Amino acid sequence: MKLLDILKFSEEYLKKYSFSKPRLESEKVIASVLKLDRITLYAYFDMELSLEQKDKIKDCLKIMARKRVGFEELPKEALEKTKEKDFSSENRELLLKSIDYLKKNEVLDSKLDTEYIFAHVLNVKRAILSMNLRREITEKEKEIIRNLLHKRAKEKKPLQYILGEWEFYGLPFKVDERVLIPRADTEILVEQCKFILKDLETPKILDIGTGSGAISVTLAKEFPKSSVLGADISSEALEVAVENRRMNSVEKNLKFIKSDVFSNIKDVDFDMIISNPPYIPQEEYEGLMPEVKLHEPKGALTDKGDGYYFYDKISKEAPKHLKDGGYLAFEVGYNQSQEVSKMMAKSGFNIVAIVKDYGGIERVVIGRKSGEKVVNETN
Ligand SMILES: C[S@@+](CC[C@H](N)C(=O)[O-])C[C@H]1O[C@@H](n2cnc3c(N)ncnc32)[C@H](O)[C@@H]1O
Repeated sequence: MKLLDILKFSEEYLKKYSFSKPRLESEKVIASVLKLDRITLYAYFDMELSLEQKDKIKDCLKIMARKRVGFEELPKEALEKTKEKDFSSENRELLLKSIDYLKKNEVLDSKLDTEYIFAHVLNVKRAILSMNLRREITEKEKEIIRNLLHKRAKEKKPLQYILGEWEFYGLPFKVDERVLIPRADTEILVEQCKFILKDLETPKILDIGTGSGAISVTLAKEFPKSSVLGADISSEALEVAVENRRMNSVEKNLKFIKSDVFSNIKDVDFDMIISNPPYIPQEEYEGLMPEVKLHEPKGALTDKGDGYYFYDKISKEAPKHLKDGGYLAFEVGYNQSQEVSKMMAKSGFNIVAIVKDYGGIERVVIGRKSGEKVVNETN
């Protein structure tokens, strides 16, 4: 039973006994048993209560109803019985040891990752983890924590796959080894596209290499009147994208299709084609950190060539699928923006924006279909 459910139950219970402020009284009881500030209860609504905690709350409610007293007038002995041992220092020690374990195993954000793992297992948000360390961490929970720390430290499994969910543009996405973990850089691509799309009533959008569906789902959510098509060559990735479409309730205006770039795309009237394609050159792929190389799908990272295969192919074929004046928007690698701009210009796109990421790297290139193909371009 979750905290919110027990709160509703308590409120109804006290209402039956004609308490004048059943909600307030219930909050006081629950906060006291859980050793939380009453005003922070809302942050714990999802928290699962132990059997013991539920029984203590029920005991308090019964005494209040029987004696016809509010929480403040509850006899001291009744409250005493509800007091629990405080496990804060024990739990903090466990947390610190865990951080140390990740650090020794060269995990970069050892503190952050440990906190995320603890919060995940204890079923609370990371931001309020420290307020939730008073309760006992059961042996079973400790075992799960140990297991996840091992996966992070020794197997180098990325935190996002361990948690199974990650946020992109403020929305939740399921992620596992079938898909690339959506990156913050890609939020810049989405942001720029949003800026262009906001002027269109019913934009029609194609996302090539949709992966987890991060770009497609976000745009479908931001523009409910749009129609979005997400394409990917990987059936496994598309399975995850479908789950993310459902999780974010955008089934109405988002479709997915299995396609090798444009091979199965028939439409010729898109307002915008977006792609964050595999752009890491094979040579650089070899040197990637183990988290990426051992766990993220290779086909989502590299074109197994010089990194430009998809930019070239998409730039050449996109004009056939775009309306006149339509846009082609790419995320690019750290040194690729100029070369990609040239490829797009050769295929008749006017470059309308090159946007830097937070590290000052040119990360997004956007072109507009001009209708004229440049034929005598020499470089
Ligand atoms: C860099 S990931 C991008 C994933 C997602 N759009 C994002 O931004 O987080 C590239 C995606 O392109 C897909 N892909 C690779 N080769 C492809 C191809 N020939 N045709 C279509 N998609 C392809 C991969 O499966 C992967 O999902």
